[in-house]
Amino acid sequence: MWEELQALQGRAQGRRIASLFELDPERAARFCAESDGLRLDYSKTQIDDEIRAGLIALCDRRDLAARREAMFSGEKVNETEGRAALHTALRNLDGDGAVEVEGCDVLPKVRECLSRMREFAAQVRDGTLTGTGGRITDVVSIGIGGSDLGPAMATLALAPYHDGPRLHYVSNVDGAHIFDTLKGLDPTTTLVNVASKTFTTLETMTNARTARAWMKRGGGDPARQFSAISTASERAGAFGIPPRRVFGFADWVGGRFSVWGPIGLPLMIAIGPEAFEDFLRGGQAMDRHFRSAPWQRNLPVLLALTGLWHSRVCGYPTRAVLPYDQRLARLPAYLQQLEMESNGKSVGMDGDPLLGRTGPIVWGEAGTNAQHAFFQLLHQGSDVVPCEFLIAAQGHEPELAHHHRLLVANCLAQSKALMLGRSLDKARQMMMAEGWQGEELERQARHRVFPGNRPSVTLAYAKLTPFVLGQIIALYEHRVFTEGVILGLNSFDQFGVELGKEMATSLGPHLDGTAPCDGLDGSTAALLAFLRGRPDGQG
Ligand code: F6P
Repeated sequence: MWEELQALQGRAQGRRIASLFELDPERAARFCAESDGLRLDYSKTQIDDEIRAGLIALCDRRDLAARREAMFSGEKVNETEGRAALHTALRNLDGDGAVEVEGCDVLPKVRECLSRMREFAAQVRDGTLTGTGGRITDVVSIGIGGSDLGPAMATLALAPYHDGPRLHYVSNVDGAHIFDTLKGLDPTTTLVNVASKTFTTLETMTNARTARAWMKRGGGDPARQFSAISTASERAGAFGIPPRRVFGFADWVGGRFSVWGPIGLPLMIAIGPEAFEDFLRGGQAMDRHFRSAPWQRNLPVLLALTGLWHSRVCGYPTRAVLPYDQRLARLPAYLQQLEMESNGKSVGMDGDPLLGRTGPIVWGEAGTNAQHAFFQLLHQGSDVVPCEFLIAAQGHEPELAHHHRLLVANCLAQSKALMLGRSLDKARQMMMAEGWQGEELERQARHRVFPGNRPSVTLAYAKLTPFVLGQIIALYEHRVFTEGVILGLNSFDQFGVELGKEMATSLGPHLDGTAPCDGLDGSTAALLAFLRGRPDGQG
């Protein structure tokens, strides 16, 4: 399936991306697609008409249209766990298409839950729901992975819309995280929200118990000031959270796809039910686009195909996500889970090993900060790292428009510099104009050469509103799904996270000294002995 593309890549190798613009003055318009004001520019890549056609052919060969409809309609596309993957139902506000799991329409329950969330969020926001000390001033949301990254990323992204109580997210089992968060908060005016699909996750339950003890000690009332988000409502009940404060969701919502439903409750408390609905509407708009746009104008499909071109065909092992938007600073971490937990696999749907590279390593940081950290390697390092830039036409601070001008200029300049580079001749000329000459000029000039021809895509939008954030997140979800379908793997399970969890549990008794260290591998036993011998950190 990949041989044809591999051959095209062989021919394209060495060709300058910049030369594609000279050959085709319409290239920028022809290698770009838009949906509801969100623009994807993938013209600064080696993809030409022939390569694009070859990539698009993969969609039909892999029956993407049928797989897509299977997902949207509630079939059990998560085959290894025997589940549907219906995160799209959580934002299906207008009842698009039939959505049934085992013959049962799921949308009425989704609506009922959304209206309970609205009611609860409104009560927290307007002061109807109080702690023992009065109006709720702070919400601490405890969760990890998919039960944390989505709302945490989105709360920061939508800070200009945040008009509810202060929000704090705690995820790490490292006591430092909950300690530093609770320090300074008032246990009588704090609401603690425990977000865990399973309500068994070690980190979340450890932090939840610590928060409950803190609240009791400080005069708060956990029965009144705790809420839970979980598919396991009986476990939440056993923890002491009354059913009216437990928001359930079905097992057909995977953790990393769950920000649209109850897991998004802290976000709703922060920005209010209306702005949260705009966020859902953005996701729904992207669903409609993904379901109806032809492949060559379909944003998630084009983003997926560009990704596969770079990782699977060109062999670039990583991809950098570079939001030129400080409020999207948590987007790379969010996408790390979404993409790497979904497509970081080596076995196909049928259990056979997959040949070749699957999901790439995703990493990144907000620009312009990233420029002063790792852009050196992006421009002159020995590895090619395809880059993904995100940029808004406008910021939320009209009085700081001059900052935004600089931000946009830097974003565009980086993708341009990555593509064009600087030749040895140009470096020499530049240095000669500065007075360099002779051997020193020759030696120094080489350090100022930029190979260029480094690919990037840019996502551009008017402003980071709740609607636009919804579009962006749904775009990435469908990209991951499309890549998974074409690679032939199941994007919805995550067995790779289990082994380490099991081993952590079994190491507990060794740390307490209640189990002997024999039977452990030499390195683990020696590290355990070292750590146990230094309880105060001094040795
Ligand atoms: O460790 C992986 C994982 O299972 C994720 O998929 C999930 O988002 C996270 O742990 C948290 O799980 P839970 O919501 O059940 O606490």
